[in-house]
Amino acid sequence: MNLPKFSSLYGRIFAIFWLTMLLVLIAVIAASQFDPRQLHDVPSGPLQDMKEKGQEITSRYQNSPSLRTALMQIERNNVDRGKLDYYFNDTNGHWLNPPMGMKVRALNNFITQSDKSDLPQQRLYGRLMLAGPIPVVIANRELHMYFTVRWHQPPPFLLQLLDKPFQLLLAVMLTSTPLLLWLAWALSKPAMRLEKAAQKVARGVIELDPELEKGPSEFKQAGASFNQMVMAINNKISEQQRLLSNISHELRSPLTRLRMANALAIRKQGESAELARIDTEAERLELMINELLELSRRQIDAHQIRQHLSIQELWGDTIEDGKFEAEQQKKTLICHQIPNAFMTGNPNLLISAVENVIRNAIRYCERFVWVDFQHNNGGLTIKIEDDGPGVDEEELDAIFRPFYRVSTARDRHSGGAGLGLAITHSVVTQHNGHIKASRSQRGGLEVQITLPVDL
Ligand SMILES: Nc1ncnc2c1ncn2[C@@H]1O[C@H](COP(=O)(O)OP(=O)(O)OP(=O)(O)O)[C@@H](O)[C@H]1O
Ligand SMILES: [Mg+2]
Repeated sequence: MNLPKFSSLYGRIFAIFWLTMLLVLIAVIAASQFDPRQLHDVPSGPLQDMKEKGQEITSRYQNSPSLRTALMQIERNNVDRGKLDYYFNDTNGHWLNPPMGMKVRALNNFITQSDKSDLPQQRLYGRLMLAGPIPVVIANRELHMYFTVRWHQPPPFLLQLLDKPFQLLLAVMLTSTPLLLWLAWALSKPAMRLEKAAQKVARGVIELDPELEKGPSEFKQAGASFNQMVMAINNKISEQQRLLSNISHELRSPLTRLRMANALAIRKQGESAELARIDTEAERLELMINELLELSRRQIDAHQIRQHLSIQELWGDTIEDGKFEAEQQKKTLICHQIPNAFMTGNPNLLISAVENVIRNAIRYCERFVWVDFQHNNGGLTIKIEDDGPGVDEEELDAIFRPFYRVSTARDRHSGGAGLGLAITHSVVTQHNGHIKASRSQRGGLEVQITLPVDL
């Protein structure tokens, strides 16, 4: 097992628990050290007073003829009687002025304990502080003098705590809270950073985040692995798109040769229905390949370009172009207003996504196309409707598939490759949005795109 390092999470958790325990332990030990209910040496100030009192008594009464009268005089002369009392014990352990009640037991207990030390001791019994012994001589007898003082001082704060388990618990919790909070913060901050980064990737923003490689070593490693993964994903996507681009490029040459051979055949054998068919199909294939090539070119590394975009700037021109194109065909595109909102994404891809749907609508509509932008809490909704023939219920999902074209005669000659909606679908999902086609209440097709906006 390796020793925990503080830079690692493992080390930090260990250190914080250890430190908390240590603090609590120190507090408990310190509290018992200052506990007046434990036997302690008498502090120098009171000790001096006690010694002076002992000397005074010795000098006044050492030659007294009677021990009893001397003791009575001492008691009578004590102005603080009741608060501060003196008790005398001979060397055999007998009290010469026996104390009353509780005091006897306390004093006897104190004598047995304090005997072990050479210096005068003190200890608190309930509300009574006992101190002593001070050697004195009264009536030519060597005696031990003890002091009892009524004690009114409240015990120190820490001791009060120790006596009340609930408050002790509260104090321990309060002192350990900052440490534990720091621990929780140290634990959760990098975890949250990692979670945010993962969410970003889920949203399609496949970017490296150097921030991830900071913090406790375990998270540093996780962050580094995460970044490596992001890099690998980026490379994989670019690689695939390059492959697609290369394939479509390579497909074009045999196709051109095919068309040339077909043209030669027509010249040699004259026009025929079969050769004409080969030519139209080859032309269509070429169109598809060209579109595919264009698409893959546009998408290479496009997933790495992300910008903060104004929705108005993004699609303003698309709408204007759409209106113009519709007018050329004696049709009308109606779009009232684009809301003022922002989103993050790839501008070129987003523009062509909406453009594809609008151009379909213009192509298939009878007279009108309606484009409606709505911005609400859920994000941005773009609704594109037309009054054309629409698409059959069972084909509504299929039109988003690449190269899918509705199987009516009308579309055979409409010229498209069937990639437009597939591109739109891919762009919308790349931006964490949704796309759905349904029958419009205005007769034709309704395509609804929802995209998340920046808050
Ligand atoms: N507004 C619409 N009204 C009726 N049919 C539509 C409409 N939009 C799309 N379609 C049908 O969905 C099919 C797929 O559309 P998509 O845009 O993917 O391809 P395309 O327009 O044929 O070709 P491309 O867009 O690649 O030039 C179209 O061929 C058409 O049959
Ligand atoms: Mg289209």
